[in-house]
Amino acid sequence: MKTLLIVSGGDAPGINTALYHFTHLSEQSGDQVLGAVGGLAGAVDGYLIDLHTDMLAPVMGLGGTYLPSSREPVLKDPMNREKLIQTISHQRIDNIVLFGGDGSLRNIPPVLAELGLTCIGVPTTIDNDVPGTDETIGFDSACNVAHTVIDGLLATARALPGRIFSVETLGGSTGFLALDIAHAAGAHAVLIPEFEYDESWLADRLKWAVRENKLALLVLSEGVPASRSLVDDMQQGHNLRIRDTRLGHGQRGTVPSHRDRWLALAMVKAAYAGLRDGVKSGMVAMQNGQITLCNGMSADFPARQPDRSVYNQINGL
Ligand code: F6P
Repeated sequence: MKTLLIVSGGDAPGINTALYHFTHLSEQSGDQVLGAVGGLAGAVDGYLIDLHTDMLAPVMGLGGTYLPSSREPVLKDPMNREKLIQTISHQRIDNIVLFGGDGSLRNIPPVLAELGLTCIGVPTTIDNDVPGTDETIGFDSACNVAHTVIDGLLATARALPGRIFSVETLGGSTGFLALDIAHAAGAHAVLIPEFEYDESWLADRLKWAVRENKLALLVLSEGVPASRSLVDDMQQGHNLRIRDTRLGHGQRGTVPSHRDRWLALAMVKAAYAGLRDGVKSGMVAMQNGQITLCNGMSADFPARQPDRSVYNQINGL
């Protein structure tokens, strides 16, 4: 069997672990693995390399991805579809494993299926927003980055009482990452793009937290429309000074946690077994604590929704 691995969209901690383990499983059975350099665009241009465990072993515990990714929707161009088919047949590739977030797993596999190509998707994104799976590779590591920073903020907050701290997470247009972090960190308020909030309510909530706890911790997702102006708005409109921290892309490029390494191994094992069994299309998912190979891709499942009751609980609503 000859498999092409493609990394698409934003990188996520654990992708390198997944590349290593898929290649390891293949090597053990005498199968061949190629990797696309530059994501789907690289695959279209025939920019492929042979993958071996000796090259992946040194990076399997690092963030980022050994195989550079890309985000361009190259398959919208019929000429690129033709080029991809030529690359696949020229290289005698049997199947594709696509690592990506919701955008990639939603948009690319249907086109590959139309072209008659076999593809199994593996959900990799720190955003944890892929329909059909409870967990994605990278989410846990990104949460851990936030906790390390929050622990430091809380230590200094306790040392000099009365201050308000905010931490902005990545997460794109979704709030799963911010909500889980806020919940586990015991934040006094959380803002996510899916749920609206009132600025006066937020000011009162933060003042209440300072009165009760001598400090206030707010966690917000980068996707909240007012995230960029929040500090100024609170200062000017409510005379509240917020010390803000933006985690930025360092949250994404971190080393994979144990959980993400485990998830990477378990998910590529399921993908590899599916390909060996002749599965033509599907997505590996974590559902109710079990790794499973689903028939559908992310687009076939209902959109995930952040847990409103957790949001209400954190915000005292
Ligand atoms: O991959 C998802 C994500 O990390 C989001 O959390 C974030 O908003 C986005 O990617 C950032 O994208 P880029 O790397 O293109 O700035």
